[in-house]
Amino acid sequence: MLEVKNLSVNFKFVEAVRNVSFVLENRESLGILGESGSGKSTLALALLRLITPPGKIISGKIILNGRDLMGVSDKELMKIRGAKISMIFQDPFTSLNPVFTIGDQIIETLCLHQGLNRKQARDKAVEMLDLVHIDNPDERINNYPHQFSGGMKQRAMIAMALACNPEILIADEPTTALDTTIQKEILDLFDELKNKLGFSIIFITHNFGIIRKMCSRVLVMQKGEIVEEAKTGDLFNNPKHPYTRELIDSLKVLNAA
Ligand SMILES: Nc1ncnc2c1ncn2[C@@H]1O[C@H](COP(=O)(O)OP(=O)(O)O)[C@@H](O)[C@H]1O
Ligand SMILES: [Mg+2]
Repeated sequence: MLEVKNLSVNFKFVEAVRNVSFVLENRESLGILGESGSGKSTLALALLRLITPPGKIISGKIILNGRDLMGVSDKELMKIRGAKISMIFQDPFTSLNPVFTIGDQIIETLCLHQGLNRKQARDKAVEMLDLVHIDNPDERINNYPHQFSGGMKQRAMIAMALACNPEILIADEPTTALDTTIQKEILDLFDELKNKLGFSIIFITHNFGIIRKMCSRVLVMQKGEIVEEAKTGDLFNNPKHPYTRELIDSLKVLNAA
């Protein structure tokens, strides 16, 4: 459903993403594993053509359902973002706008993409908050982000990202900023929603434990390049690339401690 071919992104002289190619299948959970600075977020943003100067996509194709997104107009892109491919960022604290209520932010997305009127969009927003297990969604919808805990904010972000029923969800380190117990709750929520709604997911993390829990296949990134691609179980048992071995060994040490 999504095919990326030879994608490269530069920031002036930094080659942040180099010649990356991969395929994402329907309903697949694909992990992207790599250390900080390996180019994961740049790749994610590039998939939605959200790279801003001095960054630039210098080559490649991003083929979604047979159409290369590199060729579509900005107006078309606006429609694709959120409705076909949606993204959740690491930090729910900065991703939500503090001056608008949670409800207004979800409603705005719905009005923009689904052409719903306000009443319909509000009903749908309440339904989405309920879906991500926010208690009393009918009241909570009127809260501002600062009235939500960190975990609830990330739930609200997930509600917003899924409100328009996207085919692909890109989650960029969605639990890194959260406490461990909340992390687990959010990962369980992703699992539950994926089964319920049937989207594909690209799960970006530096944590192999999370990949193991969430993804059937994984791409390993190092210095902007994909250095290994494997089924998650195979990668864990038999990492081919020295860098992957290092990542996994350090995880085993952590687990043993
Ligand atoms: N806006 C930017 N301006 C300049 N360099 C950037 C920018 N964003 C990312 N980079 C560079 O691109 C490389 C990859 O960064 P990033 O995609 O954020 O990695 P990751 O998400 O794996 O931590 C790094 O060398 C980083 O310094
Ligand atoms: Mg990142």
